[in-house]
Amino acid sequence: AGLAVVAKAAGKLYFGSATDNPELSDAPYVAILSDTKEFNQITPGNSMKWDATEPSRGTFRFANGDAIVDLAKNNGQLLRGHTCVWHSQLPSWVTNGGFNNATLQSIIQTHCSTVVDHYKGQIWDVVNEPFNEDGTWRTSVFYNTIGPEYVAVALRAARAADPNAKLYVNDYNIDGTGAKSTAMVNLVKSLQAQGAPIDGVGIQGHLIVGQVPTTIQANIEQFAALGVEVAITELDIRMTLPVTDALLQQQKRDYQTVIAACNAVPKCVGVTIWDYTDKYSWVPSVFNGQGAALPWDANFNKKPAYDGIVAGFA
Ligand code: G3I
Repeated sequence: AGLAVVAKAAGKLYFGSATDNPELSDAPYVAILSDTKEFNQITPGNSMKWDATEPSRGTFRFANGDAIVDLAKNNGQLLRGHTCVWHSQLPSWVTNGGFNNATLQSIIQTHCSTVVDHYKGQIWDVVNEPFNEDGTWRTSVFYNTIGPEYVAVALRAARAADPNAKLYVNDYNIDGTGAKSTAMVNLVKSLQAQGAPIDGVGIQGHLIVGQVPTTIQANIEQFAALGVEVAITELDIRMTLPVTDALLQQQKRDYQTVIAACNAVPKCVGVTIWDYTDKYSWVPSVFNGQGAALPWDANFNKKPAYDGIVAGFA
C-alpha cells in the first residue's frame, strides 16, 4: 500500500524521507521520492543548514532549499526544515567570529527568523544536537558564548517569524532512555518553565542492526508526557557490510521495533528516514565498512526492512 498510506491509516501525520539537491537529477530516484503513497513528507538533508543558507553574515541563499520546497509543494508533501542552529556545517564566520554574547544572540535571531520566515508553514528542527552522550551540554560556539539560553533564543526567533511552524529540538542517541534522553526531558521542562516555545522533540534514530534499544517506547512516552509531540526524524539502521540474509532479517525486525514504538504512542506524529535508498545514504562515507541502512537498496529494490516498517504500523 505504501509507507505513507500505512502510517496515515495508523493515525500518524506522515511518513517521510530526507533528500538532497544533487539527487534530484536522478529521475528514477525522484519518481519514488515523489510517490505520496510512500512519502508524504520530505526533509532537506543539507540545503537549509547554516552554511547553505547564510554563508556570510547577512547574505542569504535560498535556491537549493527552495528547490526542495517546490518539489514538496508540487507533490503535496509536508516539509521539515532542517536546521537553524547546529554546531556542524556552520560557516567559519560564525564559529570563529569572536562575537560576544549579545552579538551572537542577535546573529541567531537574524538567522533563524530569516530562514524560518522564508520557509514559512513548516515543521522545524530549530536546534540540532545540543547534548553530549552523558547529557551534559555540547560545547559549541553557541553554548560557550551564550550558555544554554541559546536554545530559547533560537526558538523565540523562530516562533516570531512563523507562529504556525512546529518547533522542535532534535538529537541523536536519544532513542532509548538514558542520560542523554533525560537531558532532553530537562531541557523541555526548562523551556516550558521559561515560557519559551517548544512543540516537539525529534529523535533522530541513527541506529545499528541488532543494537536497537529496548526502551524506545518508554522513552517516547516520557517525552510525550511533557505535553510535546515527538517525531522520529532521521531513521536509518546500519549494518557491517557485506549484506547477508540474516542481517537483512534482523534489520527488518529492528525497523519494525522502532516503528511499533512510535505507533504505540499517539503523540509520536511521524517518522522520517534519512533518505530512502542505500544509493544516497550518508552512512558509508562516515562509518567505514558499514551501510545498507535504508529500506530500499541502491538499485531501488525494496528490502525486508520495508515490510518491517509496514508491520510496525499494523
Ligand atoms: O557541499 C560540499 C561540496 O561542495 C564538496 O565538493 C563535497 C566534497 O566533500 O562536500 C560537500 O559537502 C558535503 C555535504 O554533506 C553536502 O553533500 C559534506 O562534505 C558532507 O560532510 C555533508 O554530509 C552531511 C552531514 O550531515 C554533515 O554533518 C550529510 O549529507 C547529511 O546527511 C548529514 O545529516 C546529518 C543531520 O543533518 C543531523 N544528524 C546526523 C545526520 C547524519 O550525519
